[in-house]
Amino acid sequence: MRPLVFALPPSERFADALAGKLDAERGKIELHRFPDGETSLRLLTDCQEREVIVVATLIDPDPKLLPLALLTQTARELGAARVRLVTPYLAYMRQDKRFRPGEAVSNRIFARMLSELADELWTFDAHLHRVASIDDLFDIPAHNLHAAPALSDWIANNIDRPLLVGPDEESQQWVQDVAERAGAPFTVLRKERHGDYDVRITLADPNVDRTRQPVLVDDIISTARTMAETANILQSLGLRAPVAVAVHGLFAGDALHALRKAGVNRIVTSNTVPGPFAEIDVTPMLAEALDAGP
Ligand code: R5P
Repeated sequence: MRPLVFALPPSERFADALAGKLDAERGKIELHRFPDGETSLRLLTDCQEREVIVVATLIDPDPKLLPLALLTQTARELGAARVRLVTPYLAYMRQDKRFRPGEAVSNRIFARMLSELADELWTFDAHLHRVASIDDLFDIPAHNLHAAPALSDWIANNIDRPLLVGPDEESQQWVQDVAERAGAPFTVLRKERHGDYDVRITLADPNVDRTRQPVLVDDIISTARTMAETANILQSLGLRAPVAVAVHGLFAGDALHALRKAGVNRIVTSNTVPGPFAEIDVTPMLAEALDAGP
């Protein structure tokens, strides 16, 4: 029987593309929010003995968690043979330490909650800065795919003589991988965060090739303060206006305004989070991994 792909908003187009590549059926749901804030969910496609794939990108995660639980648990109750949860963007991974006394270490708590909902989890470039492996967080098999090959292809095909720039030491893992695949040089900057909207960055290597096109690469653009500050520094050092490339484009608050003000000349992200800049399609990689997966 063909697998069945359900989606929670706003992952419908991602799910369509994935289902096409897997030759799977697109499952239909009815989602309703009552005036009192509760959610009702109904599966309109039969799951009996089917392999069910649930796609739910977890930008703005809190309101998605309950519908996700209703969807996955109903699929189980109605006889799904296996529930594979795909969260193209996996939220809460950056709170990976008790930074202040009494603070929740959200990544572990969130991972444990998701582990209750499905038989396995698939995601892209989860932010695992202080965590060696995604398996350390989840109680179910978890697969952390890397969008680097797709980002590299885009850069190699669209940017002439790129110089890849990582905004901080944490970004080195993404930038180095993307740069090596694209056959381009890279450099990584130093970042100090003084608050949600206050990030200061310095250039660690002053001998970068200033004739190249800087391409800022990071895993996430959230408030965009990291990218904006990096763009400002590069230009103050005489480099060209940079292109910003990220796996996950969250664009929280006035992020776009901050990027434009900093002179970023183009923004491109993968489609793990939908939006006008989500040009890089990672569904072919995901379909291949799901097909090959256990
Ligand atoms: C940091 O640890 C991440 O790799 C990103 O650099 C960060 O999440 C970007 O955040 P923002 O866009 O809010 O500066």
